[in-house]
Amino acid sequence: MTPALELQDVRAARGGTDIWSEGTFAIPTGSIVAAIGPNGSGKTTLLQMILGLIPPAAGTLRVMGEAPGRGNPRIGYVPQGYAAEVGEAIRCRDLVALGRTGTRWGLGRRSSDDRNRVDAALASVSALDLADRRLSQLSGGQQQRIAIAQALVGDPDLLLLDEPLANLDIHHQQEIVGLLRELHRARPITMLIVVHDLNPLLSILDGAIYLLDGHAHYGAIGDVVDSELLTHLYDAPIKVVRTVQGDLFTSGEFE
Ligand SMILES: Nc1ncnc2c1ncn2[C@@H]1O[C@H](COP(=O)(O)OP(=O)(O)O)[C@@H](O)[C@H]1O
Ligand SMILES: [Mg+2]
Repeated sequence: MTPALELQDVRAARGGTDIWSEGTFAIPTGSIVAAIGPNGSGKTTLLQMILGLIPPAAGTLRVMGEAPGRGNPRIGYVPQGYAAEVGEAIRCRDLVALGRTGTRWGLGRRSSDDRNRVDAALASVSALDLADRRLSQLSGGQQQRIAIAQALVGDPDLLLLDEPLANLDIHHQQEIVGLLRELHRARPITMLIVVHDLNPLLSILDGAIYLLDGHAHYGAIGDVVDSELLTHLYDAPIKVVRTVQGDLFTSGEFE
């Protein structure tokens, strides 16, 4: 099967400055993968390259077998700081519709098919009851559900989430992770999730891309959750503990 993402010696640069290089790996279709690395290491840049917004400075990037392109309908995207980016006054139903109607938004021409899909996307994140509320009235966890519904409304095959757990307390983090697990169970699309802390996601991850010392690597989750690697990655002592249940935990500050 064609990998969801395939990188061959990819280099990422912004404004003429190299961010990371030597990215050579493939992400299997249908897997759930984290992207980790210190602030400024180029996690968001990676997503923007996948979205076709920034071309690789070198190497070859294939997204579901094709060259990256803007407005790829097969990709759903939850940007970093979603709630801060969108207007306070907009209603959730209209926000989610934005993910489907794209440039037709604002003309008030939504087909019944569009409306059905918006309802289905809201239902898939258990947020139908929030449809007529304004984003500013919602909790952080509810806002993140709406962001995910908007990303899902076009039925993507690849879902990119940029720090979807940021600014959520542990309870709401677990709720979002549970939602991603349920969504993946219902339809096993590829998910790439940028996170600061691997812990909340460990139970659903197949692997992780890690940006270390200016290079991009990929490893199966059992190989990435390694004391030495994580201590190096975060430049802080990280301990990995394997419990009797087989769970892996890392301790220490991720910053
Ligand atoms: N629009 C931009 N123009 C130039 N450099 C940028 C821009 N956005 C981010 N950068 C730089 O690119 C690097 C990677 O940024 P980013 O991908 O946002 O990192 P991360 O998401 O891992 O925190 C940082 O050094 C950042 O300062
Ligand atoms: Mg970022």
